[in-house]
Amino acid sequence: MSEQEIKVPDLGGADEVEVIEIIVSKGDSVEEEDPILTVESDKASVELPSPGAGKITSITVKVGDKVKEGDVVGTMEADSGDSGLDEEAEDKPDEKSEEAPEAKSEDESEKSKPAPKKSGGSRKETVKVPALDGFDNVPVIEINVAEGDSIDADDPLVTVESDKATMEIPSPFAGKVGKILVSDGDKLSEGDDLIEMTVEDEGGESEGEVESEAEQPASKDQGKSEDKPRKQEEAPQPQGATYEPPAPGTKVHAGPAVRKLARELGADLTRVKGSGPKSRILKDDVQAYVKSQLRQAQQGGAVGAGSGIPGVKLPDFSQFGDIEKEAMSRMMAATATNMQRSWLNVPHVTQFEDADITDMEDFRKAQKAAGEKKGVKMTPLPFLLKACATALAALPQFNVSLDMDRKEVIRKKYIHIGIAVDTPNGLMVPVIRDVDKKGLWELAAESADLAQKARDKQLKPAEMQGACFTITSLGGIGGTAFTPIVNTPEVAILGVSKAAMKPVWDGKAFQPRLMLPLSLSYDHRAVNGADAARFTTLLSQLLGDIRSLLL
Ligand code: COA
Repeated sequence: MSEQEIKVPDLGGADEVEVIEIIVSKGDSVEEEDPILTVESDKASVELPSPGAGKITSITVKVGDKVKEGDVVGTMEADSGDSGLDEEAEDKPDEKSEEAPEAKSEDESEKSKPAPKKSGGSRKETVKVPALDGFDNVPVIEINVAEGDSIDADDPLVTVESDKATMEIPSPFAGKVGKILVSDGDKLSEGDDLIEMTVEDEGGESEGEVESEAEQPASKDQGKSEDKPRKQEEAPQPQGATYEPPAPGTKVHAGPAVRKLARELGADLTRVKGSGPKSRILKDDVQAYVKSQLRQAQQGGAVGAGSGIPGVKLPDFSQFGDIEKEAMSRMMAATATNMQRSWLNVPHVTQFEDADITDMEDFRKAQKAAGEKKGVKMTPLPFLLKACATALAALPQFNVSLDMDRKEVIRKKYIHIGIAVDTPNGLMVPVIRDVDKKGLWELAAESADLAQKARDKQLKPAEMQGACFTITSLGGIGGTAFTPIVNTPEVAILGVSKAAMKPVWDGKAFQPRLMLPLSLSYDHRAVNGADAARFTTLLSQLLGDIRSLLL
């Protein structure tokens, strides 16, 4: 093994280019063609590939340095059998130049510049695909503009990807985007129609007044003219993996190596802020983004996009009909986050059971006069509260929270139960404390009072905290069963649907009985299925014979 110099290869005509990113470090093992650093001329940015496989022993340039063809940017120890690193780079200029960026000199560009059309007003132009540096049939992976967009000359129109590179095709004009003549996935070759544009003529020689072919994304010898630096961001580089297109309409400026890193880390580049020139996304930006997402997840931040779970991309609904947009209320946004957090973190299972509440209802209705005297209405809810408190005491594995970081189960010695209340402003969950120590009238009064406070937005924070378990009763509304979402960090929730008369077999005949459907969702990490069945069976027994609530 011998140390070899890594030299800047043929830059496709560019004199001097600036180092904008160092991709490897001393000690890194690289394969032939792995990117070493990214350089940028006033026309293009390009990753300089490693001339061979081996280990980097030094990088002798830093970001901001200017380099030109033949300059040494570092050294490497070639893997045995892979000799002649520099020689290869120097001896095969044509081969290397395939990866060289378009960086045509101003003089050359001037020569190939078409004569400006001298006209005023506006005109229609059909932008055509320029030479694609030897590639054809290159698929479109992103359309960067939409019909009606006002764009500047050099703004990227579409991004295409060959098996070696992603390239943005910049607009040759400033103007308004008309019909887009290509779609995602279309295969493009030089000369294909790309988009229609309305180009404003300001009289005389405007930047848009060049021939109607898009600027070449990266071409060694057929550069189109331009008076100012192009926004050409990509140049052909060897890349094997596929590219995941960003959200429609989002422009991403990143080199192939950065895109590859983002794919490997599952980072959505449309969400990463670029710190490079022209907001170009660098490897550091991707790494910083991934770190911040991890930190957020560890701190219990919102789960969803950015946590490895693909975000939901919305179409433009207005294309299907009239729409109206309204900001979410804070309560709705908070509920949505809590639901998503619980749904994504908790392995849910729901256990169903019917409780025979015929006798309970007879008893409850018999309390009507007493209730009127007290000014309290006895609904099924206090019975449910009392039965759940008894079941939580009998099966304390339901009265826990899990601390997965410390691998601890937190057992609670109190029984506070939340009740889900439907309010005009959204769902609220006030908490009744020490349910096990309270009687039915007390529970009826307190639940009615808290439900009213919830509807009047009068609940204090303390009245919504500390629940061990939640009851969500839709019985007054309807339904036969549902699968409630556990109000994490609690580990179970009881859903109650509408009681209905059903024929129940008593061993000799069918009897009409009032059956109350119960749906117990639980966190399967804390509770096993057998215990869930025990819990609902116990609830059914307690509600079926409310005298047992006294025991
Ligand atoms: N089956 C049949 N009828 C029922 C019933 C059931 N499971 N539960 C209640 N009812 C009846 C009540 O007896 C009452 O009838 P009545 O006036 O003839 O006596 C009627 O339905 C209305 O009861 P309600 O005023 O709702 O009182 P409640 O104590 O049963 O419920 C709340 C109180 C706060 C739970 C309830 O008003 C509520 O907001 N429920 C919705 C909760 C929710 O949105 N959950 C979804 C979370 S995802």
